[in-house]
Formats: sequence, C-alpha cells, structure tokens
Amino acid sequence: MTQDRIAALEAVAGRVRVCTLCRLSETRTNAVPGAGNPLAEILFIGEGPGFNEDKQGLPFVGQSGKYLEKLLALIGLTRADVFIANVVKCRPPENRDPLPDESSACKPYLDEQEMLIDPFVVVTLGRFSMARYFTNAKITQIHGQPKYEDRRAILPLFHPAAVLRNPGLQDAMAADFRRIPELVAEMKARRQGGASAAAPSGDGSGGDASGKPTQLSLF
Ligand code: URA
Ligand code: SF4
Repeated sequence: MTQDRIAALEAVAGRVRVCTLCRLSETRTNAVPGAGNPLAEILFIGEGPGFNEDKQGLPFVGQSGKYLEKLLALIGLTRADVFIANVVKCRPPENRDPLPDESSACKPYLDEQEMLIDPFVVVTLGRFSMARYFTNAKITQIHGQPKYEDRRAILPLFHPAAVLRNPGLQDAMAADFRRIPELVAEMKARRQGGASAAAPSGDGSGGDASGKPTQLSLF
C-alpha cells in the first residue's frame, strides 16, 4: 500500500514536470510538484513557486522556506516530516498572483496529492490556498480557526512571506502554528473511531483505512 502511494505520488510529480495545461508552463524553468513525506500527517499548501523554487524545482526553498522551517521547529518537526505543495506548480512571472484559470488548470494535481497523502491536517498558507477550502473568507478574520471535514481538519494560516513583510503578525503566526499538533491528535482519535469530544460528529466510518503507520510519535 505504502509503495503504491509513493509510486502514485511520483507519477503525479512526473506529470506535473512536463505539464503544459496552462500558460505558466511557457515561462517556468522547473515545475515544482511538491516535496516531503508521502505518509505525512500534515500537508502544507502554499501559493506557487517563487524565483528560487523555480530554479530548484523544490517548494519553499527561499526566505519564506527558512521561516517555515523555523515554525516547524516550534512543534518539533522538520520539512522531511511533512509534505509541502502549492496551488500552482509553476512560477507566475514576476511572482504575480496566480490567475483563476491557472489555479483551476492545476487543481487536479493538488486534489490527487491530497487524496493520496490523506493527511490528518491540511495547513493552508495564504489567501490562495485558503480559497480552496473557504469561500469569501478573510484571512485576517479566520486564521488559526480550523474547519473540520470528514477525514481532516483544514487550518488556514497567514502566508510566511506576508508575516516576513509584516513582523507584527509573527506572534499570531507562532500561536496558530502551535495548534497543529493538537489538531493532528484530534483528527487521529476521530478516525480511529474514538468519540472525540472536541470534534464535531463525523462519518462514523472509524479506523484509518489507509493503514498509515504513526511516524510522528510526539503526537
Ligand atoms: N511561496 C509559496 O507560496 N510557495 C513556495 O513554494 C515558495 C514560496
Ligand atoms: Fe500545469 Fe499547473 Fe504548471 Fe499550469 S501551473 S502548467 S496547470 S503544472
């Protein structure tokens, strides 16, 4: 099963690297499919590759990435523990915002990654990935407040680059980040059929059908 999942994720990455479904393929150096632990309990979703990511074909390797690594250290994790992906896999020219047709063209890849990884918690970084789960929401109003789906919690956070530009957000960002471990534990208990008091009623299916091993023992 695990091997199947790794192979399937690698197949998605292979398709992303040669994708020409939107105009961003014309200006990219490298597509950035995403990287990390295929069995991750936490999936981080950013906006799209920037200059450094486009050069290296890896997500969050610039200044935002350094900050993200510091935040992960706050909860005892490294980037190898989690999976990091983006809403669009190719860099928008001059780091402009992704256009709606680009995000929709790229959506099936992220959908597939989320399904295969099947994380307990999805952490959205910034407005564009928040919009995948929350319609008409304002990040300043809902950051740090999880939304519960059947199999996972979605936690909307500020984008690391926004916090670097506005250091006044640092404390809120750190506080939001520290909620992640408890959310993972809550969703894990819920999937195991435990009647988790903290989580709203679920599908009652019980059990982790994925057979995923528990790789994050600190939770
Ligand atoms: N910002 C993002 O949103 N994604 C990256 O991969 C890097 C910076
Ligand atoms: Fe394909 Fe996504 Fe890159 Fe557009 S951004 S070319 S849809 S991989």
